Amino acid sequence: MDRFLLFLIASLIATVSGGRDFTGDGVLRLPSEEASRFFQAPDSDENEEGTRWAILIAGSNGYWNYRHQADVCHAYQLLRKGGLKEENIVVFMYDDIAFSEENPRPGVIINSPHGDDVYKGVPKDYTGEDVTVNNFFAALLGNKSALTGGTGKVVDSGPNDHIFIYYSDHGGPGMLGMPTNPYLYASDLIEILKKKHASGTYKSLVFYLEACESGSIFEGLLPEGLNIYATTAANAEESSWGTYCPGEFPSPPPEYETCLGDLYSVAWMEDSDIHNLRAETLHQQYELVKQRTMNGNSIYGSHVMQYGDIGLSKDHLFLYLGTNPANDNFTFVDENSLRPPSKAVNQRDADLIHFWDKFRKAPQGSPRKAEAERQILEVMSHRMHVDSTVKLIGKLLFGIEKGTEVISSVRPAGQPLVDDWNCLKTLVRTFETHCGSLSQYGMKHMRSFANFCNAGIQNEQMAEASAQACTTFPANPWSSLHRGFTA
Ligand SMILES: *[C@@H]1O[C@H](CO)[C@@H](O)[C@H](O)[C@H]1NC(C)=O
Ligand SMILES: *[C@@H]1O[C@H](CO)[C@@H](O)[C@H](O)[C@H]1NC(C)=O
Repeated sequence: MDRFLLFLIASLIATVSGGRDFTGDGVLRLPSEEASRFFQAPDSDENEEGTRWAILIAGSNGYWNYRHQADVCHAYQLLRKGGLKEENIVVFMYDDIAFSEENPRPGVIINSPHGDDVYKGVPKDYTGEDVTVNNFFAALLGNKSALTGGTGKVVDSGPNDHIFIYYSDHGGPGMLGMPTNPYLYASDLIEILKKKHASGTYKSLVFYLEACESGSIFEGLLPEGLNIYATTAANAEESSWGTYCPGEFPSPPPEYETCLGDLYSVAWMEDSDIHNLRAETLHQQYELVKQRTMNGNSIYGSHVMQYGDIGLSKDHLFLYLGTNPANDNFTFVDENSLRPPSKAVNQRDADLIHFWDKFRKAPQGSPRKAEAERQILEVMSHRMHVDSTVKLIGKLLFGIEKGTEVISSVRPAGQPLVDDWNCLKTLVRTFETHCGSLSQYGMKHMRSFANFCNAGIQNEQMAEASAQACTTFPANPWSSLHRGFTA
């Protein structure tokens, strides 16, 4: 805006407030409906000063994980339509989807079967090997000197600002994936959120999280009083779900051999896409997303959870997401928003769906069929290896009966996964040294390692058991340690 316009607006404000008229509750009533619309101050949310910031993260890579980057691109478009500026939205995505040779529409990403392109215009702030835990934390803290690579965009927020964080990926108990190693540990995330709060650089922060066992990231860990409200796609002990998958209903267009979205993610975004977000609260959206993600209480669904300062959920979504003016006349009502249940695919099986669909459709005897077959075998051998060695290590440490119990026991709700996070990191690293990388699938076993720590297992015992269990590990990209340790 040029200086002259700013001056005009400033003098207009002076005129208006000269004749101001306070209603009983202290809300400034502007002299005319028109002026009130001009200053966008019809309700209390909108009297809040401050800037809306967002961090959007797709924590995976690989075409079989198409949906996480599709989710994040969709979120970007939604926020831009809501009025957020590009400079206030920090995007983390590996960016290997749009121009993947597997993509039937080069340069285009869709997040639903009939959806428009959501890739166009998405800024490449942190892509490829710059999508790291360290850069995410630095961007959130607004600490440019802690960044490595990327465009240098950070959340340079002030005390009146509102921050929205959306993360979509694989996860496991206490852990979120990244396309690079190390992965993200819940305890580290909570420390960074506390640090951000202590720096006094936001008014409130909303965190939407899609991942398996995503409840475990906050359960018993996120304290009240940080002005943070978080919702997660799943509770602490269940998978979250991919949607718009091949062979399911609704299906992606036939040329797509991958899931296009995730159930919780498309639920909040497809709701936000069509409503006046000045008139819809976080709580209303939580209820709706919870219902849709439960998916008719079928096995193809998960339990959306909320954590932190639940009181913030009375805020309107507008405060964080803005609102698309084209939706001004579309007010949220419960029934107009719910979609019928759909089939969904467990996050952890979505890669198999991709490789299987690729295999099925490839011509007999083609190199593509051979490649798909190799990919299926690699995934399966990694899975079987990780599953069986974790089980075996449990037995080596605790005996045959008790071992099975320890690896699968779950602490009561409200308790954190583990008391000593350093122990957890150490045991994971020891396991990987002997048995190979956990990778995205192996994260499901984080609870077993946590339980070893909670039972007082020392690193020396873990090393001995791991060495016994794994004299070797599969030579494939999933098990390989060439990208470093998870911890
Ligand atoms: C920013 O990051 C650098 C490098 O990690 C660190 O030395 C510094 O203390 C950080 N600054 C703040 C304000 O946290
Ligand atoms: C909303 O409805 C009013 C009254 O019918 C109309 O004038 C206005 O153009 C509509 N706004 C939008 C964005 O469709």
